[in-house]
Amino acid sequence: MREGLFITFEGADGCGKTTQIELLDKYLKNKGYNTLLTREPGAKGLGTQLREILLHYDGEVSSKCESFLFLADRAQHVDCIVKPAIKEGKIVLCDRHTDSTVAYQGYGRGLDINEIKHLNNIATSSLKPDLTILLDVDIETSMKRVGKDKDRMESSGKDFFNRVREGFLKIAELEPDRVKLISSSDTIENIHNRIVELVEAL
Ligand code: TYD
Repeated sequence: MREGLFITFEGADGCGKTTQIELLDKYLKNKGYNTLLTREPGAKGLGTQLREILLHYDGEVSSKCESFLFLADRAQHVDCIVKPAIKEGKIVLCDRHTDSTVAYQGYGRGLDINEIKHLNNIATSSLKPDLTILLDVDIETSMKRVGKDKDRMESSGKDFFNRVREGFLKIAELEPDRVKLISSSDTIENIHNRIVELVEAL
């Protein structure tokens, strides 16, 4: 039986999810919950090396290779960090997970969505988040927040990010019970309160 909870945060670059996941972590810790704040790609150990390649490798990377590297990171992360923490009864808060691969490599890079979903299931042994907070941001705000100092993924262009955003919206439409869509145009405080409401309901 599962004891802890698994909550993921998703959205395009610059959507503000890192701010929100940190606020939620603080809120839950203040209430006495045992939490684990983690991320993909590259939580720690082997993952940090995969992250370095994924975000900073300066040569040709095929879309399939990119997908497999994100999935390799995910398999390692789920097996070695996420599942043990859930088993210990922790509330695991994860900055990006399976939906990012569907949105970025599926909708963004144009790989087959069903194949990506299947590979996600292999990587996670079908572990599903109890709740996914999806922060929606418009492309102009996203680009402004990312700024000039872009990593490899952030350098993929406006059309790519439009497809990623549409992909995330489609994911929310297909799985409304798990994925809760929140506009990132509201204030940090209002967004935080809405997230707390959703998490308290769990
Ligand atoms: P990161 O610096 O963690 O970005 P953010 O702060 O926006 O989360 O970089 C992760 C990048 O990798 C981001 O551009 C999204 C991308 N990504 C994928 O393309 N596929 C994936 O499966 C994951 C987990 C991330």
